[in-house]
Amino acid sequence: MAVGNARLVFDSLRLLESLGPLPEPVAEPFFIAVSGLPGTGKSYFCRRLVEKLPAVLLESDALRKALFASPAYSSEESNHLFRDIHLLVERLLMKGIPVILDATNLSEKNREYLYSIADRLKVKLILVRVSAPPELVRQRLQSRQADPTNKSDADWDIYRRMQPTEEEIRRKHYTIDTSQDISSIIDKIVREALR
Ligand SMILES: Nc1ncnc2c1ncn2[C@@H]1O[C@H](COP(=O)(O)OP(=O)(O)O)[C@@H](O)[C@H]1O
Ligand SMILES: [Mg+2]
Repeated sequence: MAVGNARLVFDSLRLLESLGPLPEPVAEPFFIAVSGLPGTGKSYFCRRLVEKLPAVLLESDALRKALFASPAYSSEESNHLFRDIHLLVERLLMKGIPVILDATNLSEKNREYLYSIADRLKVKLILVRVSAPPELVRQRLQSRQADPTNKSDADWDIYRRMQPTEEEIRRKHYTIDTSQDISSIIDKIVREALR
């Protein structure tokens, strides 16, 4: 086996182990992916969603720390991480495990990987753009540091650096504003996922 392939298999096993128990496989698994800037409420939304759905939640910030003990957030590290995450998503869906992917997924180029996995496996892809007013995000990012469940290192500087890189989602998607009550949109997405 080539060294690169061995590394991929080894990493995906490590990531798989970090997930804990998986839900039961189903005949037609769904794939939900969020997209949004840091602090807009992606992880909060995904955690609420996974309480209502039999799915595995892949949080890129947690998986990064499972692979890299002291993350550098370099482009090389991110490329490595997302190659592994995309492979893991594909493997889980192939086994019939529904997936919720919590990552910024800001550019269409990054989302193309998600589209191609869903198209290739013919699974239902539900895309959700998560947003919030910048002033609220700034306050949230400041108070998030005290939250023990938080896995993200992103702060307001990172938000401002990433803001110009956010691209419109070209495929059909939901848009949520997390400064509003998100309960009804969660119910709507749950119904669509289970339909
Ligand atoms: N809908 C919401 N209602 C209340 N608080 C929220 C909501 N969404 C996010 N938050 C809070 O804002 C902070 C940032 O949210 P988080 O989900 O970590 O953002 P992201 O994953 O997009 O970086 C967290 O402390 C979170 O608890
Ligand atoms: Mg997050």
